[in-house]
Amino acid sequence: IEEQLMQVIIMGDEDKYLLKFKGYNFERSLVDIDFLENLDNFEIRDDDVFIITYPKSGTIWTQQIVSLIYYEGHRNRTELVETVDRSPFLEYNLRKIDYEKRPSPRLFASHIPYYLAPKGLKNKKAKVIYVYRNPKDVLTSYFHFSNLLITLEASNNIGDFMERFLDGKVIGSLWFDHIRGWYEHRHDFNILFMMYEEMKKDLRSSVLKISSFLEKELSEEDLDAIVNQAAFQNMKVDPQANYDGILKNEIGMRTNNGQFLRKGDVNVRSLWFDHIRGWYEHRHDCNILFLMYEEMKTDL
Ligand code: A3P
Repeated sequence: IEEQLMQVIIMGDEDKYLLKFKGYNFERSLVDIDFLENLDNFEIRDDDVFIITYPKSGTIWTQQIVSLIYYEGHRNRTELVETVDRSPFLEYNLRKIDYEKRPSPRLFASHIPYYLAPKGLKNKKAKVIYVYRNPKDVLTSYFHFSNLLITLEASNNIGDFMERFLDGKVIGSLWFDHIRGWYEHRHDFNILFMMYEEMKKDLRSSVLKISSFLEKELSEEDLDAIVNQAAFQNMKVDPQANYDGILKNEIGMRTNNGQFLRKGDVNVRSLWFDHIRGWYEHRHDCNILFLMYEEMKTDL
């Protein structure tokens, strides 16, 4: 009984869908609490690559790009391996892969916040690619996704979902905390920030940016193959890349009328985050003080 009580204390609020661990919400049915407890000591190899995102920000897209950059067999389609096996989710080990036995270079995807990152990641050798997307499109994408999967809490309308999203009562907790955390601690990691909207605007340059960060030279032919296979319309019909099989057969869907790759659009013109990021990135050029509305409310 004592042990069970401890589990509840560690997990915090009980929730059917969310598991709160150290202040951050994980997907209850897919996460292994023992793994989380040992995450800090998860052994990192110098050539590991981590794709880290807030949910619905372009994870699968970047998994596709990075695996195509690394593996010729995926690029020329002689090896048909699903995304989930190419770069498994660190904290959601769907296929129960033995990460320690996995040959290098290992590719991982993850939604962890910066403060739960294995301490070995901070040796700056292994690489992190952090992809972020504007919150309006994340919200829309997340709303549809939550209604699709049986492991996520559904909402009747986007307004209801927005309340939970803005309260951080979703997997990934608060969108802005996630991004801000990784951005503010970027000097602790060997990290490249990629913006979903920039990837949409110019996929070719984005692939080059990623490959140069990964120190992988690509021929024109390789680059063409990657850009082609990472294009939305092609990924949508590519069974290795579109997650459809996993959603249907392994996770479970509420309806058959939905897909992981839904629209892949950018629906905002001026980005709120660009404004903030611009001022924050150039803060050393000005004599500037940043104040957060929420902190002012908490303690005027
Ligand atoms: P939408 O729901 O807006 O279509 P994640 O992988 O982080 O869960 O993100 C999923 C979102 O990324 C979905 O957004 C999905 O369609 C979009 N996406 C996936 N592959 C893409 C691609 N090749 N180009 C553009 N968007 C893509």
